[in-house]
Amino acid sequence: MENTKIIVSNTVGKNYSSDLCVYLVPQKDKERPDSSGIENTYLSKAIKNKDFTGKYNEILLYYPDKPKKNDLKSKRFAFAGIGKIDSKFKNTELHENVRLSGGEIAKLAKKIRAGRICIDTTTLNHSSVLHVISLIIEGMLLGDYSFTKYKTVDKNKADFTGISEIKVLSKGTYQSDLRKSLQDVKKICDSVHLARDMANEPGNKLTSHAFAEIAKKIGKRKGIRCTILEKKDLEKLEMGGILAVNKGSHIPPNLIILEKNNSNSQKKIMLVGKGLTFDSGGISLKPAAGMEDMKYDMCGGAAVLAAMNYISLNKNPVNVVALIPVTDNMSGSDALKPGDIITHYNKLTSEIINTDAEGRLILADALAYGKEIFSPDYIVDLATLTGAVVIGLGHHYSGLVSNDDQLSKELIEAGKKISEPVWRLPNGKAYEKQLESKVADIKNIGGRPGGTITAAEYLRKFVGDTPWAHLDIAGTAWSFTEKSYITPNGPSGICVRLLIEFINEL
Ligand code: BES
Ligand code: ZN
Ligand code: ZN
Repeated sequence: MENTKIIVSNTVGKNYSSDLCVYLVPQKDKERPDSSGIENTYLSKAIKNKDFTGKYNEILLYYPDKPKKNDLKSKRFAFAGIGKIDSKFKNTELHENVRLSGGEIAKLAKKIRAGRICIDTTTLNHSSVLHVISLIIEGMLLGDYSFTKYKTVDKNKADFTGISEIKVLSKGTYQSDLRKSLQDVKKICDSVHLARDMANEPGNKLTSHAFAEIAKKIGKRKGIRCTILEKKDLEKLEMGGILAVNKGSHIPPNLIILEKNNSNSQKKIMLVGKGLTFDSGGISLKPAAGMEDMKYDMCGGAAVLAAMNYISLNKNPVNVVALIPVTDNMSGSDALKPGDIITHYNKLTSEIINTDAEGRLILADALAYGKEIFSPDYIVDLATLTGAVVIGLGHHYSGLVSNDDQLSKELIEAGKKISEPVWRLPNGKAYEKQLESKVADIKNIGGRPGGTITAAEYLRKFVGDTPWAHLDIAGTAWSFTEKSYITPNGPSGICVRLLIEFINEL
């Protein structure tokens, strides 16, 4: 968790002992691990019995009677398969396998309540060892996540509160590079945990006010500026979309703005995230079954905030501005109704057909306002926007709709690189037509066909010609593809790592 200490060392020290010592073992071929350099009778026995092949999801716990003289004084030992490590180690699938192995180690640690872990990499003899270790630690940190804040009676809490220390034993000459790399990995994983924590918080706790308090904390760090536009500011600015969605709620909305400016880097990226702290559907009320999941409707906003958290911790020179409109969507007596007509920040009028299509309404104002005030070179927005994307892509890809091929390519590449895949959908005039209204400039839904695309077409009305990409994460923000380093069915923290990768590459 957040306070996990990571130590890189070439020796264990005289009195060192851990709860668990893990040897990383690559795979040679289907049947055999690559055991060269690992002289260990336990491994030989495991190989002989065909119990262990080095595949990435294999983990074998053992308890030597008398650890060898050079062995660590640890309570337990394990071999962790890390899959194939080829000479170039460029294949992102192989990278993901190593990350998954790290997740398996975290799962084992939790099961046996091992807080202090030693990762012995001295047997790894490979040019990509630095990369391999970084991926293992990434998987371990991401996998070492739990949300027990509201459990007052938790049997496991007392004796295991997560991995407290990871000691990486390595022989190489790359140790200072490795330390640097692991520090960065730690900042990335802490940011993912922040996004997951925010998602796990229920609607009555993570209100717009609480959301803004987290942003303010980030805003206190050097080089970051945080502005919170309150309800009265939004009224003055005539942000008709955010205000309309908020009408049914007694909690005022806000628009969070976080900036990091660096004059040396020319390109400015604008990030916009949907911060719907709870989506009841409003007057177009959602069915009761599963409605509790709609506390996750702020995952786009949390991902954007978490990316800014990383940026605030990292000294990289970047020009990024983040906007997060925050409100819940309730059905109080003054709530927005079907048939109502609203006016967005850019004066475009919109006929409300369904109050449950609220995400696009709050994003539209933020996009138009951000574009006008900050003149970004690129816009990327993230939102749990449509159920339709779950039907189209399932829980394995985030949906991408964009007006720019190059920007799309870069996001797809970033997603591939860190195994948060993104699939581009088409868009254009034919879809835009579905939003024509008889009484206003546009209407807020375009019917069932191509629901993810028409939602994106709504947003496109507010970005003009600026290169823009919209990521629909309704299928991936929780219940994402089963992975050892993500709590099953829990919030994934999707797109935090993707945004960081994208920004760092740019
Ligand atoms: N927050 C939902 C989208 C959603 C649905 C996310 C299921 C995750 C899982 C969004 O505000 C919404 O309700 N969209 C409607 C749009 C429709 C009324 C055009 C939807 O997808 O059903
Ligand atoms: Zn909705
Ligand atoms: Zn929603």
